[in-house]
Amino acid sequence: MTLSTVILAAGQGTRMKSGLPKVLHQLLGKPMAWYALQAVRELTTEKPVMVVGFGADEVQKALGDQAEYVLQEQLLGTGHAVMQAEPLVGGKSEMLLVIYADMPLLTGETLGKLVGKAQSQVAPVTLLTVTTDETRGFGRILRDASGQVSGIVEEAQATPEQLKIRELNPGVYCFRTNWLWPALRRIQLSPKGEYYLTDLVGLAVEDGYKIASLSVDDPSEVIGINTRLHLSQAEALLRKRANEQWMLAGVTMIDPNSTYIEPGVTVGQDTILWPGTYLRGQTSVGANCIIGPNTIITDTRVGDHCTLLASVLECAVLEDHVEMGPYCHLRKGAYLSRGVHMGNFGEVKNSTLGPGTKMGHFSYMGDAQVGPDVNIGAGTITCNFDGTQKFPTEIGEGAFIGSDTMLVAPVKIGAGAKTGAGAVVTKDIPAHSLAVGVPARVIKEF
Ligand code: UD1
Ligand code: CA
Repeated sequence: MTLSTVILAAGQGTRMKSGLPKVLHQLLGKPMAWYALQAVRELTTEKPVMVVGFGADEVQKALGDQAEYVLQEQLLGTGHAVMQAEPLVGGKSEMLLVIYADMPLLTGETLGKLVGKAQSQVAPVTLLTVTTDETRGFGRILRDASGQVSGIVEEAQATPEQLKIRELNPGVYCFRTNWLWPALRRIQLSPKGEYYLTDLVGLAVEDGYKIASLSVDDPSEVIGINTRLHLSQAEALLRKRANEQWMLAGVTMIDPNSTYIEPGVTVGQDTILWPGTYLRGQTSVGANCIIGPNTIITDTRVGDHCTLLASVLECAVLEDHVEMGPYCHLRKGAYLSRGVHMGNFGEVKNSTLGPGTKMGHFSYMGDAQVGPDVNIGAGTITCNFDGTQKFPTEIGEGAFIGSDTMLVAPVKIGAGAKTGAGAVVTKDIPAHSLAVGVPARVIKEF
């Protein structure tokens, strides 16, 4: 049976106490609503429809073309929200899966089971339920004497007897669309002035149908985020879930509680992650690396057998066998070839260091092309910026840059050339010559 999906994301989330729409608060570097999109991704090729309202533009901008959007101008409740999607999805599919965007732990696997169940039943409504003592303000599932679902009552409207019920409504439903669209119009305004989607269950029972339900195995999957407290709890669970997957895939974590790996990152086998490691964005780390403690890597490709200690890397590429730290900073466009060694307090930006090149202490390479097997002495600086413009530096194979050399760009150091300690290089130095002084002059050729 054909399936469309609708994700409700129009609410402000007042309990977040935030200027940011609730569904844009991040977990592991991704907005909450991104997780809802991930969860439905495998179920159907139909693009999910997201109902947006509060901060609609921001939400749309953050999630881009992963969804189609429909605006709920007035936030008149979850039933009203689904109605807004009718013009977009109305006749498209026989089944409609509806989820809320504030449940980032929900898995595609569970949704798949629910859809499977819905397809095997004649019921116009199939819903997920959860049984737990942590009621978190969820609606209560009502069942009749024979155990059939007879309705859902919102916590605010529940009687003291109903409040004791521990089977709850996480807010995940699969509907038959031929029944759904007309039924939505029959929902009455609630005492709170909203059209509750949950009233559909009672309506289907009135129509003489049996409601199908599926109980979720792991209650933590349906933790809904209403406050920042919930947000931190959900983030911790997501992190734990991701870290467990990586450990089972062959990655060692000395302390998973202090290791942070965002979705989209990959890590190779036998890599060891020390505490305080953050792997973010589009980052890949190869096999047999030792990362951390205290290392932050963002949008960077790290090869195999690299050792990175207490460093910060952004938008960089490291080939195999690179050794770095402590306290190095790689910025956008840093490319470290195989076997590069960077000791403490090095910074590299928009520069390539050739294979086997060493930069041991307190140096800055910006806009530089450095050849293989170069030795960059302590405190060497590329003076790449004259206050208005940036200029390039080139250093040839096997050059030896003396300690505290200032390379005033644009400038070229030939292969095998040497500079004396404290040299201020303002003009190109030919290959295999030694330049010293301020400004540097060639005093020897070899
Ligand atoms: C809802 C359910 C409740 C369930 C709980 C699970 C209803 C009436 N109640 O209550 O039974 O236990 O979720 O988390 O559905 N939204 C809109 N437009 C609106 C209102 C809400 O798009 O006009 C969206 C919100 O952005 C949110 C979702 O729907 O993503 C749920 O809304 P929320 O206000 O959090 O509903 P709950 O009171 O938690
Ligand atoms: Ca909620």
